[in-house]
Amino acid sequence: MALAEPLARDARKRAGTDAGFGVYVHWPFCLSKCPYCDFNSHVRHAAIDEARFVRAFAAEIAATAARIPGREAVSIFFGGGTPSLMQPSTVGAILDAIARHWSLAPDVEVTLEANPTSVEATRFRGYRAAGVNRVSLGVQALDDAALAALGRLHSAAEALAAVSIARATFPRYSFDLIYARPGQTVAAWRDELARAIAQAGDHLSLYQLTIEPDTPFATLHAAGKLATPDDDTARALYDATQDVCDAHGLPAYEISNHARPGGQCRHNLVYWRYGEYAGIGPGAHGRLDVNGRRYATAAEKNPEQWLALVEARGHGLTVDETLTRTEQADELLLMGLRLAEGIELARYAAVAGKPLDPSRIADLAQGGLVETTREGRLRVTAAGFPLLDAVVADLAA
Ligand SMILES: C[S@@+](CC[C@H](N)C(=O)[O-])C[C@H]1O[C@@H](n2cnc3c(N)ncnc32)[C@H](O)[C@@H]1O
Ligand code: SF4
Repeated sequence: MALAEPLARDARKRAGTDAGFGVYVHWPFCLSKCPYCDFNSHVRHAAIDEARFVRAFAAEIAATAARIPGREAVSIFFGGGTPSLMQPSTVGAILDAIARHWSLAPDVEVTLEANPTSVEATRFRGYRAAGVNRVSLGVQALDDAALAALGRLHSAAEALAAVSIARATFPRYSFDLIYARPGQTVAAWRDELARAIAQAGDHLSLYQLTIEPDTPFATLHAAGKLATPDDDTARALYDATQDVCDAHGLPAYEISNHARPGGQCRHNLVYWRYGEYAGIGPGAHGRLDVNGRRYATAAEKNPEQWLALVEARGHGLTVDETLTRTEQADELLLMGLRLAEGIELARYAAVAGKPLDPSRIADLAQGGLVETTREGRLRVTAAGFPLLDAVVADLAA
């Protein structure tokens, strides 16, 4: 990495945009598989041997910490799958293992993803006692017919009850909704979103439904049995999302994530500001900075095979590669331009070894899709966000 990068990092620290270090822990089990989902999640009918998983998580944490010692974690994130199926003692044991190997920032954010089906107050109090201070709930819709169509096992009332328990138990909480669902109208979405915001804390994730390859939804879609909104309707739904959230003080800080000032998810910021993160557990991805090189890691996705690998050799990685400067610069661009704050052009140049092409920036700026700031940042405009993929592809080319 260029000498300029540590200097750029100092400047970022001063500006409050330093990404820091986070730990991602993947729990790969769910009660059932939702037909739209392509996350690494598996349904098992036999009980999960959580003690065995704890030993394997601890081994992978130790192996990763041996490569990147001395880090201070600003965030720990239990994602899934459905981490709220873990016993609170399992979460506590994994947090203990992390704290044995890395230091934790005094205000470390510890998030756990929860599915409303598995939420009950006692279990949530157990997570809180174990050290979790933020929960992210998969509400998905506040409409029972839509929840059934998404294959969810909970009703809107159950999801809202889970939100109330989250609010009563944790200092911070967020929930996810999926929009651009089959048959959804702009008027219905505006109403649903306003009802959701009335129950929201300082953060909301609002995802447009994507048809992921090799899911049951993809099969239905290909057979013409699942009509997703056309491009114009999808655009109108996106615009309504920005409009309603802006009016309620929850602007987008990332293309699908909204927060009140200070409510941004620190873990997400580690990714999008292209910080360093350890990926622990089946299918988890990491980015590790070792001796001036940046490594991209990914672990075996199948839970039982991952266990066998960790038990045999101390880690479950199946990918462990160094990234070239160009690959790092592309990733920085791809991640950073999702954020409303955009990227620091000097940092891009330090990572890439050359600046972003000024004529491409000028062309996109001319079209009103990006803008540069006095502080030397490049960011996508409100008009550019709906075309983000094309903007990034143009700049990275
Ligand atoms: C990994 S899931 C974990 C949440 C938890 N398992 C649940 O479902 O409640 C994270 C979020 O991704 C979103 N998501 C998953 N698949 C999606 C898709 N195909 N399109 C849009 N959003 C999706 C959902 O909002 C979900 O809450
Ligand atoms: S519960 Fe969440 S992670 Fe599991 S299949 Fe459904 S959306 Fe995917």
